[in-house]
Amino acid sequence: APDLLHRRDGALRMEGVPLTRIAEAVGTPFYAYSAQALRAGYTALSGAVAPHGVDVCFAVKANSNIHVLSEFARLGCGMDIVSGGEMARALAAGVPAERIIFSGVGKTEAEIRAALLAGLHQINVESPAELEVVAAVARDLGQSAPVALRVNPDVDALTHAKITTARKDSKFGIAIGEIPALYAAAAMRPELNMVGLAVHIGSQILDLAPFRRAWAAMAGLVRDLRAAGQQVGRLDLGGGLGVGGDGHSGPDLAEYARIIADTVGGMGLALNVEPGRWLCARAGVMVARVIYTKPGDGADFAIVDAAMNDLMRPALYDARHAVEPLAPPRQVGATTPCRLVGPICESSDDFGTYQGLGPLQAGDLLAFRDAGAYGAAMSSTYNSRDLIPEVLVDGAQFRVIRRRVGIDEALQLEQPGPWQRAG
Ligand code: LLP
Repeated sequence: APDLLHRRDGALRMEGVPLTRIAEAVGTPFYAYSAQALRAGYTALSGAVAPHGVDVCFAVKANSNIHVLSEFARLGCGMDIVSGGEMARALAAGVPAERIIFSGVGKTEAEIRAALLAGLHQINVESPAELEVVAAVARDLGQSAPVALRVNPDVDALTHAKITTARKDSKFGIAIGEIPALYAAAAMRPELNMVGLAVHIGSQILDLAPFRRAWAAMAGLVRDLRAAGQQVGRLDLGGGLGVGGDGHSGPDLAEYARIIADTVGGMGLALNVEPGRWLCARAGVMVARVIYTKPGDGADFAIVDAAMNDLMRPALYDARHAVEPLAPPRQVGATTPCRLVGPICESSDDFGTYQGLGPLQAGDLLAFRDAGAYGAAMSSTYNSRDLIPEVLVDGAQFRVIRRRVGIDEALQLEQPGPWQRAG
């Protein structure tokens, strides 16, 4: 994907729009996404894997704004969803039901019913108990539900412990050893249409070797099932492709595609991947303003108007988002490092210590990079803060795609209901 941020006359721009223009229009903090970068990302990834017969479904959880979804949908991208809410978003963005896969370890009966009524492409089932609910709902609706079993292949994704999902002790998927019996029993039931298998080993994966291990294990499982007489038509390879930064150039798409071809190619399987982060992280920034500076021990504090409720990743995963000042730094060369912290009353409300931002002053604007994935989507109103605006940039234009949700609206939600007598 092209570098979406560049400077002209010193001012940091996203595509043709100076980010300060957006700050004037919507106030800070805010998220901005480059439509061109979203489209270029999808085109690059799908261009790398499509020749190997691999379909791309965007993991909606990474950025669920319907205008972001519709950028992908218009290019023919499918979607991977994990809730009834995400299903509603994908459908609202114009994604056809038959392009949607439903993942997740805790789908409720109501969500499963809605999915079957909508006619989704596939339900990735994660437990025998869930399989029973899918079967019961499908029977009730007179349908044969398209089911894939999500496999836990017991592979370490070699990423942050909070975003690894396929070790033996993980809550996700069904242990690989239990699949053959479960698959065979399910295939006998008319209300279940056993279409194949799914796997997802974790997120922000930069070393591609774990993918090879997991997919090789899946290929073996498919062969075993077929040898036992089962039909296995589809394989969902999951998401997890990481993005570079902090000195890492990011994974090579050609290598990613080659690993797919090496492990599960040529088996007559309909393949798909479900990347979230890779498709949208780099397309987005979060812009914040310095409220105060104060001297600190080893680094000077800059207290910014964005906080852990707006961008949780540093607090939750020790993630580091590179920061660019919207105006060129005041001083080049060695200056005191800046520790960027938010206003929330928690020590973990800390974005980290940065070199080269120069001495910051109140009013300075900063862009946090790679914030297009798991940024706005994970935000909250903790400390009774606003949900901050999201803005889409396309060429020389920009528009608000989610307005600021402030305290007036939040207070509306707290209109009390009537007291109800219990017994
Ligand atoms: N498929 C399934 C079944 C998933 O659980 C996930 C992510 C994805 C696909 C997409 O993974 P991706 O390609 O984005 O890595 N909040 C964390 C990431 C959590 C990912 C959860 N599952 C973060 O900000 O790093």
